[in-house]
Amino acid sequence: MTAQLSKKSEAWSARFSEPVSDLVKRYTASVFFDKRLALFDIEGSLAHAEMLCATGIINQADHAEIQRGMTQIRAEIDAGRFEWLLDLEDVHLNIEKRLTELVGDAGKRLHTGRSRNDQVATDIRLYLRSAIDDITVLLRAFRLALLDLAEQHADTIMPGFTHMQVAQPITFGHHMLAYVEMFSRDAERMADCRKRVNRLPLGAAALAGTTFPIDRERVAKTLGFDDVCRNSLDAVSDRDFAIEFCAAAALVMTHVSRMSEELVIWMSPRVGFIDIADRFCTGSSIMPQKKNPDVPELARGKTGRVNGHLISLLTLMKGQPLAYNKDNQEDKEPLFDTVDTLTDTLRIFADMATGITVKADAMRAAALQGYATATDLADYLVKKGLPFRDAHEAVARTVRTCVDRGCDLGDLSLEELRGFSALIEADVFDVLTLEGSVAARDHIGGTAPNQVRAAIARIRTQLG
Ligand code: ARG
Repeated sequence: MTAQLSKKSEAWSARFSEPVSDLVKRYTASVFFDKRLALFDIEGSLAHAEMLCATGIINQADHAEIQRGMTQIRAEIDAGRFEWLLDLEDVHLNIEKRLTELVGDAGKRLHTGRSRNDQVATDIRLYLRSAIDDITVLLRAFRLALLDLAEQHADTIMPGFTHMQVAQPITFGHHMLAYVEMFSRDAERMADCRKRVNRLPLGAAALAGTTFPIDRERVAKTLGFDDVCRNSLDAVSDRDFAIEFCAAAALVMTHVSRMSEELVIWMSPRVGFIDIADRFCTGSSIMPQKKNPDVPELARGKTGRVNGHLISLLTLMKGQPLAYNKDNQEDKEPLFDTVDTLTDTLRIFADMATGITVKADAMRAAALQGYATATDLADYLVKKGLPFRDAHEAVARTVRTCVDRGCDLGDLSLEELRGFSALIEADVFDVLTLEGSVAARDHIGGTAPNQVRAAIARIRTQLG
């Protein structure tokens, strides 16, 4: 990083009598990370310049020069030829300085009626809007992959758990659809957050607005914003839209993490419900037999860092008086890392969902072992007229006997079953089967295979 530029070259230089130390320069600079906003910064500047020209604040020749300079700068950035200078502090001053080098006074006129405060707020919103759009596409792809898996296994029976104990039989398709629901709500949250991201701060200038006859609605339209921020102080200072995004992202990661936890458990040889394709796993440097589910484990771990970013931004904001404070420069790294982590995670998980092999036999064997149809037996007795609490008690005694004998409910003879309730008849064996149990839960939201298929069809239609 060259430091050859004198203080005179800095945008606010004339006010100062001594230069900052190199350490302070590095401490206060953001160019190393905010250069990532460069293309959004140029897009915002071009919209601002177009408005300055349309309102007669700058002339057409200056506008044309700004456009020409920005086209070249964009090409330099794309080609990796743009020289980012620490002395110029941030992405905004770097680009403006280069523009002035290229087109002279027209470049110096660009900042008329604008401040870096409303400029950076605009850049972040443009960046975040685009990130949300990418994430929305990925959430859709992930759900489509989960729907395929659910469809292949609409009839595959596994034990459903509460307290990590076998509870009732469910279908694997139904289990996958639970995650689809979570990711659908996540997509809704992203769409909702986007509405508040998509408002234009530009025109707020430093904090109070500007004396120039600007046209903020015109800029909003050019940049595709739905509205303009209605108060200049609020426009430059609040980052609640970024906090909201991080909260929505933390929830997506939380859902990914819950799924990861299950994948890890299911892939454990002790459980053996699934296998995950080799490309998502790694071996051990010492134990040749190992195949570890690294991707889900890492996703579970990365949820911690995304949650941390949410707390960073909340804490960053909570003590700030109006309006802009330099604290806000610290919004970027947590936000960027949240976007990167979430984007990579969703991309990998959409692919990984296609690489999950379900071991239906192991699932079935586990469902047969845990008295998973005990509730069905109780419901059966209720349908024969016994009050539910009495039915519960009768079945509890039946299970107790099975535990003592080391057998399952379906292994008892009709005679033995009738010892627990005289209401039991030969048709009881229909409800003691796993298939009978899942098929009987035949209502919206239930685990019956035909409900699973109907839910898949409904969600596919919604996803378009
Ligand atoms: N780099 C700054 C940030 O990210 C841009 C705004 C600086 N404004 C100022 N008055 N120093 O927030």
